[in-house]
Amino acid sequence: MLHDNETVYIDEVQGSDETGTGTRDAPYKTAVHSLQTKGDSIKILVQKTSEEGYKDISGAALKKAKKRVDDLAKKAKKEEEKRKAEVEKAKLQKEEEERKLEEAKSIVLEQDSTLPQAIKIKIMNSVANRGKRVKVSGWVHRLRTQGKDMKFIVLRDGSGYLQCILTGKLCHTYDALTLSLESTVTIYGVISELPAGKTAPDNHELLADYWEVIHNAPGGDDAFANKLNAEADPSVLYEQRHLVIRGDTASTVLKVRSAIMKAFRDHFDSKGFTEINAPCMVQTQVEGGSTLFEMNYYGEKAYLTQTSQLYLETCLPSLGDVYCISESYRAERSHTRRHLSEYTHLEAEMVFITFDDLLNALEDLICDTISRVLAHEPTRKLIYQLHPDFVPPKRPFLRMDYKDAIQYLKDHDIKKEDGSFYEFGEDIPEAPERAMTDRINQPIFLCRFPAEIKAFYMKRCADDKRVTESVDVLMPGVGEIVGGSMRISNMSELLEGYKREGIDPTPYYWYTDQRKYGTTEHGGFGLGVERFLAWLLHRDTVKECCLYPRFMGRCLP
Ligand code: 4AD
Repeated sequence: MLHDNETVYIDEVQGSDETGTGTRDAPYKTAVHSLQTKGDSIKILVQKTSEEGYKDISGAALKKAKKRVDDLAKKAKKEEEKRKAEVEKAKLQKEEEERKLEEAKSIVLEQDSTLPQAIKIKIMNSVANRGKRVKVSGWVHRLRTQGKDMKFIVLRDGSGYLQCILTGKLCHTYDALTLSLESTVTIYGVISELPAGKTAPDNHELLADYWEVIHNAPGGDDAFANKLNAEADPSVLYEQRHLVIRGDTASTVLKVRSAIMKAFRDHFDSKGFTEINAPCMVQTQVEGGSTLFEMNYYGEKAYLTQTSQLYLETCLPSLGDVYCISESYRAERSHTRRHLSEYTHLEAEMVFITFDDLLNALEDLICDTISRVLAHEPTRKLIYQLHPDFVPPKRPFLRMDYKDAIQYLKDHDIKKEDGSFYEFGEDIPEAPERAMTDRINQPIFLCRFPAEIKAFYMKRCADDKRVTESVDVLMPGVGEIVGGSMRISNMSELLEGYKREGIDPTPYYWYTDQRKYGTTEHGGFGLGVERFLAWLLHRDTVKECCLYPRFMGRCLP
């Protein structure tokens, strides 16, 4: 809009091009802005300082401002032209791509019938099948295109990874041009060892002679890579856990987890233990009422189990030493690196043993399980891939009494938040326990806890009735991974235990009966599988060590 001979005010100090309107009350700051906004048929008054007051703009200043306005207009025009050219170029490119894609639809691949019949293999068997014509199905884990005649696909089938190369016509089809990560494909060809200097999984690659898409995963905004942004909030990773587990790290953890479960079972099997399965729906609490998940069981109050221990104890007279691996549930109300609402609990119970036997059995379980997984070369590789500095624990483990831990905390100035020291009889919470364990930096058997801070079933020590024959195994980086004890074998002592914890013994009749029909010394322990893995694989949190973690605020996927 032109404002003929309109007077425009500029205050070089107080004016503003953003909020001003060019009036005396609301002056602009620059002549350039005045000309751009009001056109050049205006009268400009400039005030350099309030003492000088408003004066006509000088001829030189007006000329300079007009030139600057012209330059800016030219520049803007150029930029607009450039932008238009780019839009046009992109449009042409898109049309060209679409034309190529359309054209590609007419390229049809056919298997060469003169080639030998392909043998269907899993990737884990690819080394044994080098040199033969094979067919492998899997997901596109990685994809790299080199020119228009070469594509490198790292194929994943859960049993391993295999680099496959598509060349020439194999890269020209519609499916090849639109192939995206996580698509499912079947590739045919021959696997050969790589020449020196090249690297790929298992040091070989499959040169494809034919391939087909089973299902093409989406590209664009919905592409797999866009679902798991590395900078995303951790909650996104839990929400998208079903996709996260396809990644290298998460799948490696799950593979080691499987190997560890097998090694635990092999260990107990070699010692003659019987595996049992106890119910998860229960009407008794064992490890304190505050972490019970309550449920409505046909109108009666019931809970998700905190431990299978009491059931394991009832099996001793019929099966001897027993163990189980099942889910335990704790309604933990805090977010920590080592608490889940549902976790996998490895528990064992042994009969006719002493407290020392219990500690030795625990040391044996941990060391033997680790030796077993390290002796399996593929698992060993995975463990060191995630935890290159892993050092297997050495026997004997450090044995330390609770009372000495209290002293250790004092000696090392590890205090409560209020600045006071932990005293005998108090629970040692996670933070000081971690501080001590990380300083000692080796596995610790922390023994003989006071009865009052432990569960009702723990046997008291003969030489000091204040404390129990109990043990927590503490590991650097994680803290407690095992809790165990000798159990009260005497009926009246057990009744005392219920009473101390305010537990009604009625629904425990079956547990109490063990002390009636042939009682004996026995003991056992529970090991948190996710905590064990967090220690072994140097993971930041137990949430990374299970398939779909459950914790306060998350029960999906
Ligand atoms: O020390 P806890 O509570 O002991 C028991 O449940 C005994 N009844 C076991 C037994 O003697 N059979 O738990 C044993 C272990 C802990 O050392 C820890 O590793 C794991 O179970 N654990 C948890 N792991 C993940 N999340 C939680 N909320 C856990 N609570 C316990």
